[in-house]
Amino acid sequence: MLAVAVLAAGKGTRMKSELPKVLQPLAGATLVERVLGSCRHLAPDRQLLIVGHQAERVEASLAALEGLEFVLQQPQNGTGHAVQQLLEPLQGFSGDLLVLNGDVPLLRPETLEALLEQHRSRGAGVTLLTARLDDPSGYGRVMADASGRVSAIVEHRDCSPEQRLNPLINAGIYCFNWAQLAAVLPRLSSDNDQGELYLTDTVAMLESATHLEVADAAEINGINDRIQLAQCEAVLQERLRRHWMAEGVSFVDPSSCTLSEGSRFGRDVVVEPQCHFRGHTEVGSGCRIGPGCLLENARLGAGVEVLYSVVRDAVVGAGCSIGPYAQVRPGSNLGERCHLGNFVEVKSSSLASHVKVNHLSYIGDADLGAGVNVGAGTITANYDGVRKHRTVIGAGSKTGANSVLVAPIQLGENVTVGAGSTLTRNVPSGALALGRARQLVKENWAGPQG
Ligand code: UD1
Ligand code: MG
Repeated sequence: MLAVAVLAAGKGTRMKSELPKVLQPLAGATLVERVLGSCRHLAPDRQLLIVGHQAERVEASLAALEGLEFVLQQPQNGTGHAVQQLLEPLQGFSGDLLVLNGDVPLLRPETLEALLEQHRSRGAGVTLLTARLDDPSGYGRVMADASGRVSAIVEHRDCSPEQRLNPLINAGIYCFNWAQLAAVLPRLSSDNDQGELYLTDTVAMLESATHLEVADAAEINGINDRIQLAQCEAVLQERLRRHWMAEGVSFVDPSSCTLSEGSRFGRDVVVEPQCHFRGHTEVGSGCRIGPGCLLENARLGAGVEVLYSVVRDAVVGAGCSIGPYAQVRPGSNLGERCHLGNFVEVKSSSLASHVKVNHLSYIGDADLGAGVNVGAGTITANYDGVRKHRTVIGAGSKTGANSVLVAPIQLGENVTVGAGSTLTRNVPSGALALGRARQLVKENWAGPQG
C-alpha cells in the first residue's frame, strides 16, 4: 500500500506574497498542482494534502481533483507537526508513506519511482532524496556515510560552520515506512533555532535511514523566494522547449520564448523570437509563428502564419495569415485561408473561409460568409450602449473603406457597400448600399474674400 502526503500548509514568508506559496504559478500550473502531478503515475491508495495557511483558498484551487483528502494543520508548527496531523487519518494504514514538500515542483516521475524502488528493496525505515549542490545554503544538510546510511539531517540555520561545508542536501522528499514513522512522530521536539517540530528529526530516530542521490540537481530545486521561483521557471521552460524541439519544432531564439505545459505543436512549426504560448494552445503542423506573438488557448490549423499578434480563446483555420498587429479575441472562429492584416481586431465572430480583413477594422459579434472582403477601416458598431448586437454579412460581399455597420444588421450575399457608408438597415443580396452624404461640388468658388 502507498499513501502520498504533500505538505502545503506553510505561509511561504520568504515569498512576500498575499498568495500562499503553493499557489504560486509555474509555467501555467500552481506549485501544488505540479507536485501532485509528479506522483500521479504511482497510483497511490491514499492522497493527502496538508493545508493550513489560507487553507480554504488552497482547497478551492484543487476542488476539481478527485480522491484528494485535505488534512488541516492549525497552527503551522513545522514540517514534523504537519506530518503528525496524519496520525489520525492514517490510523491502521500499513504500507509506505511518500512525503513531498509542496514547494519542490520539478521532480520527475521516474525519480519518485526509483526512490520507492530502492526503499522497498532495502526494506528501509526511511529513504530520502538528496543532491550535491555547489551552493547548498538554505537546505538541510544530510549526514551520511559512504555506504549511504543517514545518521541525521541538520537544518542550515542549526548547522555548525563545519556542517555547512557539507554539500549533500535534503530535497524534502521522503519515503517512510508508515508504522515506524508513526511510532516516532510523537517524540519530536522543537529544540531548534526556529522552535518548530522538524520532520527531518525523525530520520535520526528511525532504524534504517538511507538516501538516493539525484543526478540532476535542478530537479529538486525548492522554492522559497521569487528568485528560486524564476530559476525553476527557467528550468521548466528549457525542458518544454527541448521536448518540442525533439518533436520537430524549430525555435529561432529558444530562450526568448515561453511555453505552457498544455500547449501542443505539430511538425515543422517555426517559432520566431519573442513568442509566448499559454493555456491549452494547439499549433498545427507547418505554422510559422512570430516574431512577437502571444497565443493563449488558441487552436491553429496547419500552415497558419501569425506575425506580431495576439490570439486568445479562438480557433484559426488552416492557411490563415494574421498580422502584423492583429488581435483575435475570445469566441472567434476563422475558417481556412482568412487574412487579417494590420490593426484588425476580431471578437466573438465567425469568419467563413477566404475572408479578408486587411486593414484597420473592428469585427465584433459578427458572422461573415465565405470570401467576404472587408474594406479598410470597416467597423461593426455592435454596442448600443446597453446590449451587444450581431452583424451578418453574406458570402461574397464587400464593404468599402470606412464603412460603419450598425448592428443588428444583415447584409445578403454579394452585397457591395460604398465607401464611407453608415448602414443601419438590412441590405438584400446583390445590392449596392450607400449611406453617406452626397458629394457637393461648387465650381469656380473662390471662398471667403478678406
Ligand atoms: C525543508 C526541510 C529541509 C530541506 C528543504 C528542501 C524541514 C525542517 N526542512 O526546509 O531540510 O532541505 O525543505 O526544500 O523539513 N509546511 C507545512 N507546515 C508547516 C511548515 C511547512 O505544511 O508547519 C510545508 C510548506 O508549505 C512547504 C514544506 O512544508 O511546502 C516545506 O516547508 P519550508 O518552510 O519551505 O521548509 P524549508 O525551510 O524549505
Ligand atoms: Mg522550502
